[in-house]
Amino acid sequence: MPTHKILFAASEAHPLIKTGGLGDVAGSLPIALQAQRQEVCIIMPAYHDLIIRAGKLTRIHPMLAGFHANLPKGMRLLEGTLPNSKIKLWLVDAPAYFDRPGNPYLNPQGTDWPDNAQRFALFARVVAAVAMNKAGLAWQPDIVHCNDWQCGLIPALLSLETARPATVFTVHNLAYQGLFPAETFAALNLPASLWGVDSLEFYGQVSFIKGGLAHADMISTVSPTYAQEIRTPAYGCGLEGLLNHRAERLTGILNGADYTHWDPQHDPLIPHHYNAQSPHNKADNKAALQTRVGLPVAADIPVFAIISRLVEQKGIDLLLGSLPELLRHHKVQFIMLGNGEPRFEKAFSALADQYPTQVATKIGFNEELAHLIESGADSFVMPSFFEPCGLNQIYSLRYGTVPIVRRTGGLADTVVDATPEALTNHTATGIVFNEATPPALLTAFERALALYQQPARWQQMVVTGMKQDFSWKHSAKQYLALYQRAVAWKEKDVQM
Ligand code: ADP
Ligand code: GLC
Repeated sequence: MPTHKILFAASEAHPLIKTGGLGDVAGSLPIALQAQRQEVCIIMPAYHDLIIRAGKLTRIHPMLAGFHANLPKGMRLLEGTLPNSKIKLWLVDAPAYFDRPGNPYLNPQGTDWPDNAQRFALFARVVAAVAMNKAGLAWQPDIVHCNDWQCGLIPALLSLETARPATVFTVHNLAYQGLFPAETFAALNLPASLWGVDSLEFYGQVSFIKGGLAHADMISTVSPTYAQEIRTPAYGCGLEGLLNHRAERLTGILNGADYTHWDPQHDPLIPHHYNAQSPHNKADNKAALQTRVGLPVAADIPVFAIISRLVEQKGIDLLLGSLPELLRHHKVQFIMLGNGEPRFEKAFSALADQYPTQVATKIGFNEELAHLIESGADSFVMPSFFEPCGLNQIYSLRYGTVPIVRRTGGLADTVVDATPEALTNHTATGIVFNEATPPALLTAFERALALYQQPARWQQMVVTGMKQDFSWKHSAKQYLALYQRAVAWKEKDVQM
């Protein structure tokens, strides 16, 4: 594979800032690409918390002339390194836009920052300027890899340029589209040619995600199954027509897991290390977890868990609809770590009050507890209505924490259901159910419990799961092929 210069644009990246799986991907895919001898630089907004965590920011480049707009006064580009890596990091430092503590997208009340359109339009303009070598960095990428709606305007702006890099737009979640009222288009001072149904307009609104979907040379999403699903009305969020129109440019590449952070063999955030050859220490982590969350320490009681953004997508309704019956009829424990919609947070807190010896609810975002849960729980549940990829089920496999998942998106692509046949030929890694209803989830829980009562079978699933390899290497190679296709499309389009 030739070496490409890749500018990787994202609105979050672990360990600098993370609200979900996008952070995991943006913090690890660039490293995997670099291992494939690619030249990769990450560019992201300089949020308040991020500057604190980024460590030494070595050089400060003054920005050159603006790109389709005047840039705000005092704006700078900071240069550093992604922690624990050799990846160059550029931070778009515009204090009035990004120097706010906490969540990158939401204000402390949990609603969108009112100026999100302005914030991510500015970010896109700067990325486009860097991509066109107009930011004083003396560097031009061959590929700009854009992620989710926050980066959607980048391919749109670059489509107006000749001598531009190829663009790739990766959809991590089609349900988040960056939709704003039509007036925003004028307020953002965007080039007039970007208004229209073949560009940023979506039923009279401005859609940032459409900038990526309509203009990128190649579109990808984070699992093969989701790449198919989003072409249907059930999952396409109104964008299925456009995605079908551009189907030859759409592909699905499964996310990898960063096993430097997520492997019980050497995870510094768990008390007892273990691996597929010697999984027994998992029991000690289970006791540590039960102690930590305040549940009775009992080796023989199965512990189910979820770590999640508490939003509708994740099937929280299904969980809340099936847990009371599960808890009433079976000796089980359930641990929930998450935050999100207040109605879900309240419901889980009420459940913990009602079943204090069976349910532990931890509201908040806690990386360390997430690792302890992965290592100590027996089974991890992800009953998502849709799931572009999902990372926790992949982590759960490596931690011997048998996943229970709904057959959708990346969940369908990563977990092998414990059918009699799969159990016989030792390929089963979890429980997969179809219907998005509480009774179907309850049946899935009960199937898991029945297998848990057969220790040899359960242990076989645990070990088979732990041996699965979802490391980034394979996916990174697929991204390289995707970049080649993007370059070929760009050459073709620029000639036209
Ligand atoms: P999504 O990106 O849709 O939220 P993923 O499964 O792809 O779902 O990734 C979620 C990531 O965020 C995982 O690394 C998970 O452990 C982490 N995560 C989610 N909620 C929490 C939380 N409350 N505390 C700690 N980590 C969390
Ligand atoms: C999104 C999706 C999730 C995916 C993650 C990383 O947040 O909801 O399924 O794993 O992005 O690609």
